[in-house]
Amino acid sequence: MLGDLLLGPIVGGLDEDSVHLWGRTDHPATLHAWLGENEDLSNARLAGKSLPLAAENGFAGVVPITDLTPQTTYHYALTLDDDPPNPENGPYPSFTTFPPCGERKNFSFSFGSCFLPSTPESGKTFAAIDAHRVEHGLDFGLFLGDQIYADNFANNGLERVALTLEDYRDVYTYGWSYKSFRNLLMHLPAFMTLDDHEVDDDWTWTDSTRTEAKIPIWDKFKRWRARRSPQEWHLPTSRVQTALQAYWEHQGMHAPHFELPLQIDEEGTYTFQESDPGSLAYTFEYGAAAFFVLDTRTMRVKGKNERTMLGKGQWAALKEWLSTVNDQYPVKFLVSSCAVLFDMWVDIARDRWAGFPEEREHLLHFLAANEIENLFILTGDLHSAHALHVNLYGPMGGSIPLWEFCSTPFNQNQNWFAPRTYRKLNSDVVKDQHMRFLYLGNNFGVIDVDFDEDGEPTVTFTLHDEDGAAVEREIVD
Ligand SMILES: [Fe+2]
Repeated sequence: MLGDLLLGPIVGGLDEDSVHLWGRTDHPATLHAWLGENEDLSNARLAGKSLPLAAENGFAGVVPITDLTPQTTYHYALTLDDDPPNPENGPYPSFTTFPPCGERKNFSFSFGSCFLPSTPESGKTFAAIDAHRVEHGLDFGLFLGDQIYADNFANNGLERVALTLEDYRDVYTYGWSYKSFRNLLMHLPAFMTLDDHEVDDDWTWTDSTRTEAKIPIWDKFKRWRARRSPQEWHLPTSRVQTALQAYWEHQGMHAPHFELPLQIDEEGTYTFQESDPGSLAYTFEYGAAAFFVLDTRTMRVKGKNERTMLGKGQWAALKEWLSTVNDQYPVKFLVSSCAVLFDMWVDIARDRWAGFPEEREHLLHFLAANEIENLFILTGDLHSAHALHVNLYGPMGGSIPLWEFCSTPFNQNQNWFAPRTYRKLNSDVVKDQHMRFLYLGNNFGVIDVDFDEDGEPTVTFTLHDEDGAAVEREIVD
């Protein structure tokens, strides 16, 4: 099956009764999705076809399949013609649909971020996640950004900063062809969001008109010193659109439906109108747990007079979601590509929520004032992992606990700086805070959610090194 596709398959957008099966080829084709109960697919049925894979979308496509049965395991194959898959080529990979919304079923998932392949051996972490899946079971995986490093001219397969749409597609092809990555994604249903390197390092808009983008001065200097071409020193808006087209083709297309999608023009290009409240944020549920996956990048403005990370439309969606799920779901996960609670006394990039202190304070106030309970922030990006616990002042003088679990990187240089410059965050609403652990080294996180007889949840965060060994654990009940 892998031979038919250039990249994929990826099992995206999974829920209790539907799935988005994704693949990319290098020529015009149509994806055919086959499902069956037998692992050799001897009883396969054609469950759906993609739209024709065309050059405009880099020959990437998705087969949306609906009317599946909850909590059912389906073996699957993605082929390019209508010949049923050959049982002799089995066993075929599988996915298991989620339990009905609200059902308190125990589950586990992996998470992490940042994959910069630099040697043929890179990506051991993905093999370790897959081994964990086989041995202990994982229901899905979260990929929290920097799924490519488009700007890393030393290790992006291009030997220059990605500039054109073809460049961005090639960086995906380079990194996502790593066997361990591809093998994991074939077996582990995925939810992805982008961080900065899907476009460029620490990039932002200069103001809310979103007509001009910028990268930090030190990146310009680095590229100048490395004798990169002048084109690589800048980030024109057309390159942001190009990068997000490639994001859409590889990550967005198979995601669950966006809360409020970004507007596009007739050519399908993101337009970034100032009045557009849309973003790449989305939500999903697994039984009794609700997830909000933030878009911390496409709305981000860092200008002389303006500074925002989420933008108005996404703020409204987030607040509404928090208010709605608070009583309905016993466990909530807020997924942010960059760290929310982690603060540093030296922070030149100011690229995380610490660089947007008013917005972070606004979030913490909202959580405290509305007594949002059992909320866990999941994050990546720092290239060092941690578990951080804070108590917020509740409206009646009580405490509202809040956790931040960070797992990163899958495969990247370590950030020796982060643990050495960590400091407690300064907030009116934070009563006390405790760093439970900090870890340096390639890693992935596993979250286990278990319900007792009374339906009360226990959430366990286990950090694993790139060989799969458990190195840290935090249990919250
Ligand atoms: Fe990263």
